[in-house]
Amino acid sequence: MYGLVNKAIKDLVTTNFGEDKWKEICRLADHVEEDFIGMNPYPDKLTFDLVTHASTVLNMSPGSILEAFGEYWILYTADEGYGDLMNLTGNTFVEFLSNLDMLHYRINNIMPELQAPQFSTRNETENSVELEYRSHREGMIPMLYGLIKGLGKRFEITVSIDHIEHKSATSDCHVFLIKW
Ligand code: HEM
Repeated sequence: MYGLVNKAIKDLVTTNFGEDKWKEICRLADHVEEDFIGMNPYPDKLTFDLVTHASTVLNMSPGSILEAFGEYWILYTADEGYGDLMNLTGNTFVEFLSNLDMLHYRINNIMPELQAPQFSTRNETENSVELEYRSHREGMIPMLYGLIKGLGKRFEITVSIDHIEHKSATSDCHVFLIKW
């Protein structure tokens, strides 16, 4: 994944737990530089290793780290120069969700090796929507929960999320029912 993701993990850890914990996580992950270049792609394994070792060092489950990270990502990207893009992506929660592919498509222009997930919305009602999620990766669902909760906060709503359909031999996507 692009360094921007690893940088955000570093930022989340150092802000909440201090530099020493981050150094310990990097040491366990055999990552000597302790820093990342946002616009460079890194192996997915490094990101997963950082999360796994953060889980040990911080005594939190990998899922709760990924979820906290997802929520943090909404604030982090807005602060790191992607605020205008976030503003363009939607004026309402549902509009934003329905434009997630456009958002990543634009990011893809500046990060050509991006392997973005794909999203579509369906069955929208006044206070719910279903979100289809397709990804090349396994294990990112807790991050998606955090992202959706963070987006809810951005639009000042409290959301609940149910995983209603799982990727399987007959379906290429996960589906989430989001209510507010
Ligand atoms: C300006 C805001 C955003 C930027 C700059 C951004 C960029 C990225 C980048 C660089 C990655 C790593 C993928 C790679 O390097 O191959 C990623 C992954 C991901 N993004 Fe975004 N993203 C943004 C907002 C969002 C939002 C709002 C959502 C959903 C609500 C989202 C959903 C995801 C998910 C779930 C992944 C994990 C990868 C996967 O599932 O395969 N992103 N994004």
